[in-house]
Amino acid sequence: MRIVLVGPPGAGKGTQAAYLAKNLSIPHISTGDLFRANISQGTELGKAAKAFMDAGNLVPDEVTIGMAKDRMAQPDAEGGFLLDGFPRNVSQAEALDESLKADGQKLDAVLDLEVPEDEVVKRIAGRRICRNDSSHVFHVAYSAPKQEGVCDTCGGELYQRGDDTEETVRRRLEVYHAETEPIIDHYKAQGLVVTISALGKVTEVTKRAMEALGRSD
Ligand code: AP5
Ligand code: ZN
Repeated sequence: MRIVLVGPPGAGKGTQAAYLAKNLSIPHISTGDLFRANISQGTELGKAAKAFMDAGNLVPDEVTIGMAKDRMAQPDAEGGFLLDGFPRNVSQAEALDESLKADGQKLDAVLDLEVPEDEVVKRIAGRRICRNDSSHVFHVAYSAPKQEGVCDTCGGELYQRGDDTEETVRRRLEVYHAETEPIIDHYKAQGLVVTISALGKVTEVTKRAMEALGRSD
């Protein structure tokens, strides 16, 4: 399956993607994670992205589209993928449409995670991520690690993302409404959008998502 996951910052895209990718046996491709890996490795791409991310703005399309296409061209993504955080504006969606069409492929679904803004702010403020593996995501109140600051899964150090400050979150939400939400209409016109509520337990949301994708078996 080829799926796009869309929703505001803190909706739980990364959390759900980890389970959905496993259930569906497809790679989880997160442009945010790819940028953060480049930043921690000190690459030119990471240097180009950092200031935009710290400010809560989108990284320019020239950088982002090439990076996402390179990742989708890896052998593990041949049979499908779950995109998280890409596309993030209409021009990225058009670039993705064109590139899939050129390969004789198409998207199967765009899964839209709906969550009220006050919940998003709470989720982001309490989020902690493992330095060893960005799919190990915790929350100080909702899914607290057994030992504070330590990943339950691998023992790695947990940290708070630099763009998870209140001011930057507000900016990321503005950018979401102005630039990312329009891709929902873009994909509605193609009949691809399924919207679910991202409220409730993580396992409940995963169940809802699998049902919406027609894969509840
Ligand atoms: P990115 O990394 O994509 O961040 P985001 O879209 O802002 O989303 P988040 O990672 O903040 O949230 P999430 O929805 O994954 O939530 P999570 O599962 O962690 O992008 C960061 C930046 O990179 C952008 O601002 C931009 O600068 C740049 N960028 C990335 N892609 C780009 C692109 N295509 N073009 C241009 N720029 C790009 O969950 C949040 C918290 O809630 C966690 O603590 C989790 O434990 C908790 N939680 C999750 N589900 C539940 C639940 N059901 N109940 C209770 N708690 C829950
Ligand atoms: Zn870990």
